[in-house]
Amino acid sequence: MLEGIDSVLISEEDIRVKVKELGKRITHDYEGASPLLVGILKGAGIFMADLVREIRLPVQLDFMSISSYGPDTKSSGAVRIIKDLDESIAGRHVIIVEGIVDTGLTVGYLLRNLGAREPRSLKLCTLLDKPARRIVEVKIDYKGFDIPDHFVVGYGLDYKQSYRNLPFIATLKI
Ligand code: IMP
Ligand code: MG
Repeated sequence: MLEGIDSVLISEEDIRVKVKELGKRITHDYEGASPLLVGILKGAGIFMADLVREIRLPVQLDFMSISSYGPDTKSSGAVRIIKDLDESIAGRHVIIVEGIVDTGLTVGYLLRNLGAREPRSLKLCTLLDKPARRIVEVKIDYKGFDIPDHFVVGYGLDYKQSYRNLPFIATLKI
C-alpha cells in the first residue's frame, strides 16, 4: 500500500461499475441530444475521461479550472476562474462533472456562474458526495457515491497534489 494511505474506501471495480451506470443514465436521459460535459480540473479529470466513454451519444467536452480564494474567504463561496470554458454554452445542454461535493460552495458557484450564460439546461454530476459538511444546498442530478466525512484521495482527488493517480478512492492517515 502507498505511503500515507489508510484504507480503500471505494474499489477500482466499484468505481468502474458505477461509472458505467452513470453513463447509461446520461445516455438515456439525453437521447437525441448532444450534451456538453464540463469537467472541473484537476479533480474530475480522471472521472470525466472514464465517464464520457460510457456515454453513447455525440457529446462534446470542455474544462474549467477554478481555485478558491483561500481558507479565510472560502465560506463566502468566492472562487477564482483559472481557466474558463473555450466556447459559449448558450442554448446547450450542459452537464457539470465534478469529483466531489463537500461544502457545496464550489459547485454552488459554478451552477450560478454557468446558469447565467443561458444554457438550455444545466445539470450536475459528481462521483462523490460528502453531505456532512454541506453549507450550500445543491441539487445533484447524477451521483456516484455518498461518503462519510473523511478526507479522501485517488481517482483524480488529491492531497497536496499527490495521490491523483490511485485507481481507487482511499482515506488518508492523518
Ligand atoms: P466544496 O466547495 O467544499 O464542495 O469543495 C469541493 C472541492 O474541495 C473539491 O472540488 C475538491 O477539490 C476539494 N475536496 C473536498 N473534499 C475533498 C476530499 O475529501 N478529498 C480531496 N479533495 C476534496
Ligand atoms: Mg484538491
